[in-house]
Amino acid sequence: MSLAADYNIALVGCGTVGSGVARLLLEHPERLASRAGRRLRLCRVVVRDPAKPRAAAVPPELVTTDFEAVLRDPRIDVAVEVVGGTDWARRAVLDLLAAGKDVVTANKALLALHGAEVFAAARRHGRAIGFEASVGGGIPIIAALTQGLAANQILSLQGILNGTCNFILTGMTERGTSYASALADAQRLGYAEADPTLDVDGTDAAHKLAILAQIAFGVAVPFAAIPRRGIAQIDQADIRYARELGYTIKLLAEAWYDPNDGRLALHVAPVMLRHLAPLALVRDAYNALFVVGDAVGSTLYYGRGAGQMPTASAVVADLIDLAIGRGQLTFRSLELWSDQAQTVSLRPPGTVPSRFYLRLLVEDRPGVLAEIARILAHHQISISSVIQHEAVDGPDGDVVPLVILTHQAPTGNFLATLAELNGLSCVTAPSVYYHVAD
Ligand code: NAP
Ligand code: HSE
Repeated sequence: MSLAADYNIALVGCGTVGSGVARLLLEHPERLASRAGRRLRLCRVVVRDPAKPRAAAVPPELVTTDFEAVLRDPRIDVAVEVVGGTDWARRAVLDLLAAGKDVVTANKALLALHGAEVFAAARRHGRAIGFEASVGGGIPIIAALTQGLAANQILSLQGILNGTCNFILTGMTERGTSYASALADAQRLGYAEADPTLDVDGTDAAHKLAILAQIAFGVAVPFAAIPRRGIAQIDQADIRYARELGYTIKLLAEAWYDPNDGRLALHVAPVMLRHLAPLALVRDAYNALFVVGDAVGSTLYYGRGAGQMPTASAVVADLIDLAIGRGQLTFRSLELWSDQAQTVSLRPPGTVPSRFYLRLLVEDRPGVLAEIARILAHHQISISSVIQHEAVDGPDGDVVPLVILTHQAPTGNFLATLAELNGLSCVTAPSVYYHVAD
């Protein structure tokens, strides 16, 4: 086979993901050359500390701290930004585009917060951006939405998009692992963000949902408008009650589009799913996403959502696409973050209906259950089931947990009910609630 000129790559960042990309490029040159029709050549690797050991056998002469050298090097066709964050990385990506380099990035925070700016810069400079690795780790979900499902009006997305949270919840649910120790394991395995708060408070999943919503619904979703809750407050008690009721708790990112009124509802939140629901069976750092389109119906995507090699797989797929010239065509055809993208009409979160799980800590005395039922009824919230186990003697005295599952109600009604319940003298601690999906 005769190959075209080498495709020259700079790696900017060589941590968890960057080392995986370097490994694929250095360990499988023949395979990648045959797929791309030209050799993918790693020319420079920019890091902060060149003395740090790497999980890839990068030739020392390639390693540098001189990012400007990448900008000046006319041989370099593409740069892979796997540094993370939105300050240095934003400037670096804008500089790379201005210097005439295409960019591949795994940085969902950058795209969710500054996508409009970096996509406009790419268009202005006639360059392309590949971002398959920014959502779903190794799952080719960006390609599925932009290419495979291009004929559809997407109606809904429902997915597990944060590997760290799913790993923690799986450990807490199946192995009784503590939250802190499961999070430490996720960090050691390279799943977590440099600041893991972004994982556990739902921000990372919301970044990914903002990117998917842009692609799926062709509309600019302001990231700050996505309601989000994380998993840090989930207690072993809730996991036990969920199990007793036949549910598993997962952190879900969800979006529902109503073509009749053009409104989009979306959120990131812990949701109780039936034990055998497909997303309830997604374990550890795996991700999965249901996508419903008007022509195709339901589709499901599943795979490793975080970690070195799955994410590197997505980055290198983008490099191959760009080396072939396909990535540039796809990028040009996307209207993402362009001036043409309309502003979505977001459905007010309070109007979105849901079932709810509610755990109250209440005084164990006559009339308490009736008082709580009266407030729920006042807000038109119907009870589906109740659990109150007998009180056991303990430090809390005559206080018992009361667990209620509701039928569907508008989220706003439920939150107003919650506020009123928390104000009762018989409710002794802030109440806990989760969405319930059936
Ligand atoms: P990481 O392990 O912390 O690696 C970051 C790399 O960037 C390190 O090599 C670091 O250099 C380098 N770096 C930091 N600041 C720099 C600077 N100012 N100049 C040059 N190099 C700099 O991060 P990661 O887990 O690979 O994540 C990278 C990106 O991929 C993030 O946007 C993340 O959200 C995204 N991502 C990660 C995963 C995952 O599973 N980890 C999956 C999908 C997407 P030193 O090594 O010398 O410190
Ligand atoms: N921290 C992210 C996660 C990495 O756990 O899903 C993959 O984007």
